[in-house]
Amino acid sequence: MKKWPQEGYKWYHDACDMFDYPGLPYGKLIKALIANTDTVLDLGCGIGTASVMLSPWCGRVVALDQDENALRYLGDHVRERSIANIDILNAYWPVQTPIQADVIIALHVYGAMRSFDNLMLVFESAAKGGFIACNAPSSRQDESFVELKEALGIPPNYEKCDNGCYIMGVMEALGAHTTCERVTYEFGQPLETLDEAARFICWQIQGEEAMLPVIRKHVERYASKDGGKHVIPITRHSCGITFLK
Ligand SMILES: C[S@@+](CC[C@H](N)C(=O)[O-])C[C@H]1O[C@@H](n2cnc3c(N)ncnc32)[C@H](O)[C@@H]1O
Repeated sequence: MKKWPQEGYKWYHDACDMFDYPGLPYGKLIKALIANTDTVLDLGCGIGTASVMLSPWCGRVVALDQDENALRYLGDHVRERSIANIDILNAYWPVQTPIQADVIIALHVYGAMRSFDNLMLVFESAAKGGFIACNAPSSRQDESFVELKEALGIPPNYEKCDNGCYIMGVMEALGAHTTCERVTYEFGQPLETLDEAARFICWQIQGEEAMLPVIRKHVERYASKDGGKHVIPITRHSCGITFLK
């Protein structure tokens, strides 16, 4: 994935607010794992929308990410809302110093969940179990911006799969009971202007700045007006994997 643009964190925050992410797609599955005294590790928390969702459900949240800028965004949010039970940890998984948690969640932490050793450390660090969400493959008709990508010579990635079956297989090999639920949900992007919408699309398709004039020509085809915002619809297809020890 291309580096997040400066406004990327705010865009993401606005999208989470509008589409109730991660509560709507994953909240029920995650809440079922948690008791109110638990410590929950939000691995790859990004700006921490899941950490904030988890905080009233458990005793303590450890919000871990490698991205300092995302954690700074979360830190501001936590202070503004006076949330006392989120500890923010700037670290890279696999961590050198073990973290013990009751439950570990890792939502769309892409590459980090593709290695056996990283998954084994998740298994070993979670006393009860956890929940891992990753991209599932879809089809051409479901891929956002597919015509634009084709026009720009950018290869489609609807067949991209983050290998949820491998994650399940590893957890089972280690002795966990696993279940997987395919979850499809709307996770579009509200934006202030059409120009901002074009920049957002450019980032999403991993385009170059030089492609912006072409993207601007297509942007109205993708953006629809909703409550004064330009909203770019995006449908996400995911595997939601629960593992229990
Ligand atoms: C797509 S974002 C998802 C953020 C959040 N889990 C959510 O669903 O909103 C992926 C996050 O995982 C973090 N990440 C990826 N690999 C990591 C690793 N090995 N260690 C720590 N953080 C990682 C990235 O920095 C990024 O913030």
